[in-house]
Amino acid sequence: MAGLGESQMSELLKAAHAASEKAYAPFSGFHVGAAILTQSGDVFTGCNVENSSYGLTNCAERTAIFSAVAAGAVSRELALVAIAVVNREGAVCSPCGACRQVIFEFGPDAIVVYRGHSGSLVQSKARELLPEGFRLR
Ligand code: THU
Repeated sequence: MAGLGESQMSELLKAAHAASEKAYAPFSGFHVGAAILTQSGDVFTGCNVENSSYGLTNCAERTAIFSAVAAGAVSRELALVAIAVVNREGAVCSPCGACRQVIFEFGPDAIVVYRGHSGSLVQSKARELLPEGFRLR
């Protein structure tokens, strides 16, 4: 897989870390940040936003993607190029199943960067994280 270059990777990770500082996570104490790279080279960030009604929690990845979609920077025609997700403390943090589906919707070939179970940073394709991912069209 052609991965991200060193400088793109560190820029995305830095932006994701900065976003994790904004996380609203009073219930889990697990602060997450995400940063996405768009086709035009712009970076959008997001953090997890929890709620007293726990099920309403929005993950960092979805916050970032939805912001980029709302700005017109990501769409079916403008697929996601890459997304990095980090925990503020550097804990293992791979995208949850719901986020994998949302990443797949906007970028089956997007590169996803996260700290895997081995403790090392992993670069994977969205379609590898969600084999046979669902899309209506
Ligand atoms: N979380 C994310 O923001 N992204 C992930 O990929 C995994 C989980 C958040 C949701 C919740 O606020 C907290 O981490 C603990 O699950």
